[in-house]
Amino acid sequence: MLATRLVILGKQGAGKGTQAIRLSQHFRVPRISTGDMFRMFVKGDSEIGRRAKKYMESGDLVPDEVVNEMVRERLVELDASEHGFVMEGFPRNVAQADALDDMLSPHPVDLVIELDVPTGVVMRRLASRRVCTVCGLNYSVDAPPKKNWTCDACGGDVVQREDDTEAVISRRLDQYDKQTAPLVAWYLATDRLAAVDGEGDPDTVTRRLLRAIESRLARR
Ligand code: AP5
Repeated sequence: MLATRLVILGKQGAGKGTQAIRLSQHFRVPRISTGDMFRMFVKGDSEIGRRAKKYMESGDLVPDEVVNEMVRERLVELDASEHGFVMEGFPRNVAQADALDDMLSPHPVDLVIELDVPTGVVMRRLASRRVCTVCGLNYSVDAPPKKNWTCDACGGDVVQREDDTEAVISRRLDQYDKQTAPLVAWYLATDRLAAVDGEGDPDTVTRRLLRAIESRLARR
């Protein structure tokens, strides 16, 4: 069976994490989220976590050499190297995209998806987002867990993410415009990009994503 290698790009709050979980279940491949990896390393107070923490708190990008090395090590693990992956949060600039091509050579990514959501909508989503501190499952003020802000799946505490404050959200979106948005043209130039509308309920967005991906995979 051919491996499936997918990358999801999109503004903070576009729904990358939400949709990557669904796609990884659908295609039976691991989800690789650099944001989740960093949060895990910060929680464990590891060397990488200590290096990443100050950048994450201010909404800046962690230096490329730290991120690239972390992703390189993850991609050689058997699940990803044999079956593929759904990746989100990486790459975030042209240097990271170049590094990813190099890591994957000679088996390039199948499709890069730009999950397109207007800035006003992502600001509202991020301000109301709440996450489980144990398993990372997403909730929002409008769709809370069933009991007392404890996770329906694992019972962990559900809280607001430290970088979901107004000032840090605006810094993260600024970084997106400057560093990550240019990747859309970069991937379009090599016919690897599909833009998918990320507005609407999550099931509708998943159906749109699956249509775009299946049509690309059929061309392999
Ligand atoms: P990271 O964790 O990747 O954060 P992010 O890019 O800011 O993305 P988010 O997690 O905020 O958004 P998302 O698109 O996943 O949205 P979600 O699905 O949660 O990175 C954090 C930090 O780590 C960075 O700032 C940086 O410092 C560092 N970092 C990570 N990767 C790096 C890299 N490659 N290089 C350098 N530094 C790096 O959805 C948001 C909310 O909306 C949720 O509440 C969800 O329930 C809701 N929602 C989702 N879909 C819908 C929908 N269709 N309708 C209504 N609500 C929806």
